[in-house]
Amino acid sequence: MTRVVRTRAELRDALAASPRPYGLVPTMGWLHEGHRALMGRARAENATTVVSIFVNPRQFGDAADLAQYPRNEARDVATCEAEGVDIVFAPPVEEVYPPGFDTVVTVGAIARPLEGAARPGHFDGVATVVAILFNLVGAERAYFGQKDAQQVAVIRRMAIDLATPTEVIACPTIREADGLAMSSRNVHLTPDERRAAPVLRRALLAARSAWEDGERSAEALRARMRIELASEPLASVDYVSVADAASLRELDRVEGPALLSLAVRFGSTRLIDNEALGAPGP
Ligand code: PAF
Repeated sequence: MTRVVRTRAELRDALAASPRPYGLVPTMGWLHEGHRALMGRARAENATTVVSIFVNPRQFGDAADLAQYPRNEARDVATCEAEGVDIVFAPPVEEVYPPGFDTVVTVGAIARPLEGAARPGHFDGVATVVAILFNLVGAERAYFGQKDAQQVAVIRRMAIDLATPTEVIACPTIREADGLAMSSRNVHLTPDERRAAPVLRRALLAARSAWEDGERSAEALRARMRIELASEPLASVDYVSVADAASLRELDRVEGPALLSLAVRFGSTRLIDNEALGAPGP
């Protein structure tokens, strides 16, 4: 039986009555197979599974993007029930950010390129809310999808630097049959855009295959991704990147573990995806 709590006090009481270890799955709702995989892993590894559902206003640069973010709490709670989640924390904004809230967690270099450059302030919002959730839940482990590879790296850095006892666990990206990474944003794609969207995966795999054939020039790998993306008229490229897997700095040559990543717009919907070369991502 899943218990839904909305305040810090209710969460504290629910946790006090629940056995450790706790596994936390932070989400913004509109739960899909990717989230279900995180919940399944949390359940397998912990005595109590906590899912937070909170559309965090601080990580949206654009009010329209925040307003459009898909929401369906009743369906999300039913998904959590089906996955055997013990506690759902679905707070209103003022329970996360109390009146007078005036603290921001800013992660440095790892948060600056890629999504950090494309979405100023985004990772401050993510790191701040995740720090609050980590403190509120005090979980032994927290689970995040590798689709947001830079987010995982930012949260890991934050957890190490702030001596947070919660272990940050990255889980593999879950994909549709045609390769499109599961994302809450996919719901905004028109049928034509949805048909076009697997080009992200094709571009990443084209670069991977060039790398497997011995290509080590990062610019050649970026070009490989751009060529594939250009084959899809509905795709408008935001960035393609070949970066060092640990620092996320752009590479000239791929001589060690690297991360291929890209952000592509289809109409008003922006999708991201990535592929690790040589070793797991950051
Ligand atoms: O990945 C997400 O859904 C969000 O960025 C997160 C980690 C729940 C923080 O709001």
